[in-house]
Amino acid sequence: MNETLKVIANRKSVRAYEPLPLSPEQRKAIMHAAMRAPTGGNMMLYSILDLEDQAIKDRLAVTCDNQPFIAQAPMVLLFLADYQRWFDFFQHSGVEALCQAKGIAFRRPQEGDLMLAISDALIAAHTAVIAAESLGIGSCYIGDIMENFEVHRDLLHLPEYTFPIAMVCFGFPTEQQKRRPRPGRYPEDLIVFKNGYRRLTAVELDVMAASTQDSGETLNVGQQIYLRKFASDFMLEMNRSVRAVLKNWQ
Ligand SMILES: Cc1cc2nc3c(=O)[nH]c(=O)nc-3n(C[C@H](O)[C@H](O)[C@H](O)COP(=O)(O)O)c2cc1C
Repeated sequence: MNETLKVIANRKSVRAYEPLPLSPEQRKAIMHAAMRAPTGGNMMLYSILDLEDQAIKDRLAVTCDNQPFIAQAPMVLLFLADYQRWFDFFQHSGVEALCQAKGIAFRRPQEGDLMLAISDALIAAHTAVIAAESLGIGSCYIGDIMENFEVHRDLLHLPEYTFPIAMVCFGFPTEQQKRRPRPGRYPEDLIVFKNGYRRLTAVELDVMAASTQDSGETLNVGQQIYLRKFASDFMLEMNRSVRAVLKNWQ
């Protein structure tokens, strides 16, 4: 295995950090890697908010489903899907007048634009994660940043055509985190299909159940995950919050 594949294979989420700052060189290397990620049309449809202010991190540790380690992370980056910059640029460039002159509609960012910007933001985020890992810096995504949209919009001054798709905490793993085993993954034949989608058979769904961590409750694992994750309060809030953001893009 080459060094890049080893870094990818050995990565695991890190949720407890040594109280050590990242050096300016390390921060710069991570940002540079993120910005070298592929991006639709080379438009860089994302922004990265470097959240250094402890008061902001403390607030996010609460609003992102009460995850205190967010406040402890030496570096917290928010990857925003961002069409605001380009929309401002279009307006600045007199595109509206051009459209009028040509008799074509001047359109605003919509759902497809959002999906492209989300793709850009996530690809940049994960490039940063892998770059950090290669430097011995652990990380953890915070999907809960999609909750409480109104609070995050006000806290971080998010304009209309942005979407907070992923926050990532970075820091040096504690010894306990280094020792923690990497979580497993589902078998490849449940995930990778050749030349088209295939629904899983009942036997394969049982294989999936057997490969899912059982929390030991009397319910089967499908029922456990449904209640604990899919129908949890935080997912209900995430769906409400995302619906509220989407209104801007429709
Ligand atoms: C989109 C996304 C959102 C996530 N959100 C959270 C989160 O809010 N809190 C957390 O502790 N881990 C979060 N994680 C980390 C996952 O729990 C973790 O990747 C998964 O359990 C697999 O473990 P591994 O990364 O160690 O391989 C998130 C990961 C992804 C990709």
